[in-house]
Amino acid sequence: MAGIPHDPYEPRTGFERWLHRRLPVASILYDTLMIPTPRNLNWMWIWGVVLTFCLALQIITGVVLAMHYTPQVDLAFASVEKIMRNVNGGYMLRYLHSNGASLFFLAVYLHIFRGLYYGSYKAPREVTWIIGMLIYLSMMATAFMGYVLPWGQMSFWGATVITGLFGAIPGIGPTIQTWLLGGPAVDNATLNRFFSLHYLLPFIIAALVVVHIWAFHTTGNNNPTGIEVRRSSKQEAEKDTLPFWPYFVMKDLFALGVVLIVFFAIVGFMPNYLGHPDNYIEANPLVTPPEIVPEWYFLPFYAILRAFTSDVWVVQLVNFLSFRIIDAKFFGVLAMFGSILVLALVPWLDTSRVRSGRYRPQFKWWFWMLAADFVILTWVGARPTEGIYPLIALAGAAYWFAYFLIILPLLGVIEKPDPMPATIEEDFLAHHESPTRMAE
Ligand code: HEM
Repeated sequence: MAGIPHDPYEPRTGFERWLHRRLPVASILYDTLMIPTPRNLNWMWIWGVVLTFCLALQIITGVVLAMHYTPQVDLAFASVEKIMRNVNGGYMLRYLHSNGASLFFLAVYLHIFRGLYYGSYKAPREVTWIIGMLIYLSMMATAFMGYVLPWGQMSFWGATVITGLFGAIPGIGPTIQTWLLGGPAVDNATLNRFFSLHYLLPFIIAALVVVHIWAFHTTGNNNPTGIEVRRSSKQEAEKDTLPFWPYFVMKDLFALGVVLIVFFAIVGFMPNYLGHPDNYIEANPLVTPPEIVPEWYFLPFYAILRAFTSDVWVVQLVNFLSFRIIDAKFFGVLAMFGSILVLALVPWLDTSRVRSGRYRPQFKWWFWMLAADFVILTWVGARPTEGIYPLIALAGAAYWFAYFLIILPLLGVIEKPDPMPATIEEDFLAHHESPTRMAE
């Protein structure tokens, strides 16, 4: 796909010309900053920048925290307490890092659901989407391992439960579990490898983000209409776009400022709101907490994982047909990974020719039900596995799979799309006064 035509980089000073012939960094920076960006991008296109901020915040605060942290089971908990009490600004660093993880996930969920609504995953942006999914999986691994480091009760028991899931895989499960833990149970070897990988992964995420940005700079951004920018000439392209600098930089910085006001209010006034009190008790392998719950951002997938118990008919049917008793936990593991896999495969599951949900009258309903489903799964993931809750989790899991595997493929065939504007310019002018009309 040809790039969107725009003015090329021209070195102006003697130094720029000298450098350009040796290392064209200025031209890469220019192309990145001046990239023609659809002029109709709305406020849902701010989360990429919030995510970039979160990644930088997590790396900076994490590197400083690591200067004071001790990855040894007898000292880890105390070293975190030392950070909170004795290190200058240590409590602030820790709260920025732990709440930063929450902001990171909130932003990534809004970013993903934005993509799902406006069909940003569709051709030609499949690679951007897949790289995004790799980023998301790496974020999950990083956050999971980071939560073990303070060596509180929930760190220890969370790690025990989650690594135990891998043990439920028939045949090779126990070997994988031992390999993950570095021994038969969560212990010093586990803490050490989790610390090492928790430090490494954010840099891998940073590299993936560079490729992610490279991918959508190659295709150009999607936009709320889902219509592509006209590329036949620079004049045409300019009617549909504005350069990223200064227009979108300013917009994104304003949005980031608003998000950060809320973020700093939480960090300053209610830093433990999203945390679990049990993680302020040092890990004790002899005392299991009454309930083991992961951080809020894992809850939807944790709910799907727990939905598959031995009395669910699919589990019973497979066991009956295979003459075996396969641990129900294994079905949960399959469902949890499967729920992420269907999300990754959405570019090929959605058969509609229309990209943006804005012009898909039926899709809209199913999409908002998916968003509600995600919230319900988050809620039910923190409830006990008794009474009506397992049923709600099962229904939520069923809808998640039905949306990707049945509804999306079918809708593309049966749905009649609404009329669409012919160009991005037309959509923009329909929503905003044109400068010439305003002058009149
Ligand atoms: C560290 C995490 C991530 C960062 C820093 C990041 C950054 C960005 C940025 C800056 C943009 C362009 C502006 C915007 O849409 O806000 C973007 C677009 C996009 N992202 Fe991400 N992203 C991340 C994770 C993800 C994930 C997990 C997915 C989904 C699987 C994803 C899918 C996409 C898609 C499809 C686009 C193109 C959208 C368009 O222009 O409509 N991203 N990303």
